[in-house]
Amino acid sequence: MRMVDIIEKKRDGQKLSKAEIEFFVKGVVDGSIPDYQASALLMAICLNGMDDEETLQLTQFMAASGDQIDLSPIPGIKVDKHSTGGVGDKTTLIIGPIVAACGAPVAKMSGRGLGHTGGTIDKLESIPGFRTELPTGEFINAVKAAGLAVVGQTGNLVPADKKLYALRDVTATVRSIPLIAASIMSKKLAAGADAIVLDVKVGSGAFMKTVDEAKKLAKAMVDIGNGAGRKTVAVITDMDKPLGNAVGNALEVKEAIEVLKGKGPEDITEVCLTLAGKMLELAGKGDFETCRKLAREAIDSRKALEKLKDMIKNQHGLPDVVSDTSLLPKAVHTLEYKAKDNGYIKSISSDILGVASMLLGAGRATKESTIDPAAGIVLLKKPGDKVSRGEPVLVLHANQADLFDASVREIERAVVISPDKPEMPPLILDMVE
Ligand code: URA
Repeated sequence: MRMVDIIEKKRDGQKLSKAEIEFFVKGVVDGSIPDYQASALLMAICLNGMDDEETLQLTQFMAASGDQIDLSPIPGIKVDKHSTGGVGDKTTLIIGPIVAACGAPVAKMSGRGLGHTGGTIDKLESIPGFRTELPTGEFINAVKAAGLAVVGQTGNLVPADKKLYALRDVTATVRSIPLIAASIMSKKLAAGADAIVLDVKVGSGAFMKTVDEAKKLAKAMVDIGNGAGRKTVAVITDMDKPLGNAVGNALEVKEAIEVLKGKGPEDITEVCLTLAGKMLELAGKGDFETCRKLAREAIDSRKALEKLKDMIKNQHGLPDVVSDTSLLPKAVHTLEYKAKDNGYIKSISSDILGVASMLLGAGRATKESTIDPAAGIVLLKKPGDKVSRGEPVLVLHANQADLFDASVREIERAVVISPDKPEMPPLILDMVE
């Protein structure tokens, strides 16, 4: 088989065979296919697409390219959740404990943040002592003991995606539905869960800018999951505005604890109850409405909060942060950003807010950057709220006061005030089953 023939076939819009897709994935991983040929095929896929069968085969060969986690020693239906990335998205920190408190085991592998989007692993590492690198045996035992553990991806999980993603990033081939779907779902399949709930974000802070695009991506991923024998559903949620009020690692952990105490912002609580309800439904705990009620009860009874505490203890972190959030890292400097006009907050663009938070030290500009766990932004007003000139809209947190200027310049672009009350889209836009 020759790579040039495979590229030619896809260039002409033809369907690739299973053997050709396998040849491509294996050759990328063992280095026998040079980057220029791999990139040429990626561009051909980007332009001419892949059908459902090709996309499933690509995903399955990618999933099999490295370690595959065996969760079978953990009894019960293991349900995983994945969010396509957003700003202020701390849902895993809230949903994991809720689902575990309702009796469904959660064995989750999460990623780090890059650029303006945050990663769950960075958020958890802001808890003093918390370890996200557990040997597989300890990971499995932690889930068996507490019903919940969240760790970083092992180094050899889907090496095909590591290589392909790095090429896509520099060849303008990230925005392709079959490639995004295969990239995300290969990691989910390799991580071993029996069922998967996908939170597909749409809006300014997300990969998918329109509901239509998000639905297509959701359908492609749901088809892959079900085609691979894992029950999969997707919820399409709004990411035009940040989720919750906090952006930044320790600030988001604090907010997650508040949600688990029943005192968190309404928007994030709502999204978490829906996603947790879907996870519990897939875990066989009843129909969606029953499961949503179970999720609510886990918050009201503080059982979910106790699960978070157990998880922190098992992963060597300081469990007292749950009762005393002042033990989390705190920035030395804060600065209030005040409204420039009277009116209503029309929008706070979440992608720009993510950049502003990164500039304070909360995110990574490159893979090598270190992050400041205490840095970030807390919103005092959200889109739709009334404001008066001079009233604080948000508070910036940083350990170096000289970082404020660049961040404030971004925030000036992000916060838009209008004289009329804007219409707010619903948070849950659709579901794909
Ligand atoms: N996230 C991924 O893991 N892969 C993509 O291609 C896009 C988002």
